[in-house]
Amino acid sequence: MPPYSGRASTLRESPTRRIDALRERLEREGRDVILLSTGQPGVPPPEWLREEAARLAREGGMGVYGYTPSGGYWRLRELIALDVGELGGPELDPRQVVVTAGGQAAMYAALAAIVPEGGEVVLLDPTYFGYEPLVRHFGGRVRWVPVRAEEGYQPDPDRVLEAVERGRTSAIVLVTPDNPTGRLLSRSAARALAEIAEDYDLWLVADEAYKTLVYEGEHVWLYSLDPERVVSVNTFSKDPGMPGWRLGYVYGPRWIVGKIHLIHESLVYCPPSIAQRTIMAYLSRREERLRHVEWLRGHYRVRRDALLEEAARRLPRARLARPQGGMFAFLDLRRYLEPLGVDAERLAELLLEREGVAAVPGTYFGTSHPYALRLSFSTETPERIREGVARIARLLGDLEGEAKAPG
Ligand SMILES: Cc1ncc(COP(=O)(O)O)c(C=O)c1O
Repeated sequence: MPPYSGRASTLRESPTRRIDALRERLEREGRDVILLSTGQPGVPPPEWLREEAARLAREGGMGVYGYTPSGGYWRLRELIALDVGELGGPELDPRQVVVTAGGQAAMYAALAAIVPEGGEVVLLDPTYFGYEPLVRHFGGRVRWVPVRAEEGYQPDPDRVLEAVERGRTSAIVLVTPDNPTGRLLSRSAARALAEIAEDYDLWLVADEAYKTLVYEGEHVWLYSLDPERVVSVNTFSKDPGMPGWRLGYVYGPRWIVGKIHLIHESLVYCPPSIAQRTIMAYLSRREERLRHVEWLRGHYRVRRDALLEEAARRLPRARLARPQGGMFAFLDLRRYLEPLGVDAERLAELLLEREGVAAVPGTYFGTSHPYALRLSFSTETPERIREGVARIARLLGDLEGEAKAPG
């Protein structure tokens, strides 16, 4: 066998892809599956933007189909810088922005640029499952720092301090609004972490994929707290809702963005042209863009509330922190599952097979949440979200009944 790189062995199929495959099988068998597993937006971009994309495809000439500058169109980088400022974020020079082929490529290129061989990266436990395999892929090591439901999933700076070491730690990854818990990083935790980053001279990776989907509270712009050490990862997959068109961006200090740009260029050469042109139209029409975001927030808030209400009613022993932003809630079912000797992975399998509900086990987001499920409220209607929660409660009741049954 010819030699091959061990790097590939650090990567696994995304857990949501695995659940999708199972779900697709059930759907082929004619089963109705309630999708509480993916962060797939439930609505497409606004109609005016879809019309603009269609017009561009029809009339845009070769420009719409050709290669683009590898860091994205200059005008788009300008518009992103303006947008971040107008959303309340930092003032950016467009040269601090590189456009990427989605948030995943943004994460890949950012981590490739900042994680040295053997460097340690602090990940909050739980955190978005995309980070751990990438850290290992680039030869880094993961240091998990648990966050607790009873502390609203806010990182405890003292626990983070215990995990960092000068010269060994290269970065701390912070997702806000969070996937999977929906918590917004508090200003005090953000300040404390920015101080740690400065004291130990390390990177803060701010994943702001959900920054415009905030239901309560205020998004903290980490970059504004330490412009020398924050690299921010972003995507247009969630707002305006075009994950299949693969567009995102990174912003940060200009010198590291230059390196991220080169890595991204070597991976995809340039971000997709039609997606860039469409997002240029989106960001140019400020009022309509902001109106759409307002509408999106209302749309997802109704779904979040349906999930919270139904869970409070049907699952009184569960612990569920109220998501302040994003598309997910993290449902801790320890008080149901531990006595049954069933973990979340088994529960997720049973949920799909017996109840036709797709959810992601907490074990995929770290090391210390064996009894949690991540539930998405982005895809289904409020009625189906309620039905999904009711089915979870029914399955737990059945499992408790089966455990008590003699023999
Ligand atoms: C927190 C977070 N970061 C990054 C990404 C990746 O973004 P994209 O879907 O644009 O690749 C996601 C996607 O769900 C996410 O939830």
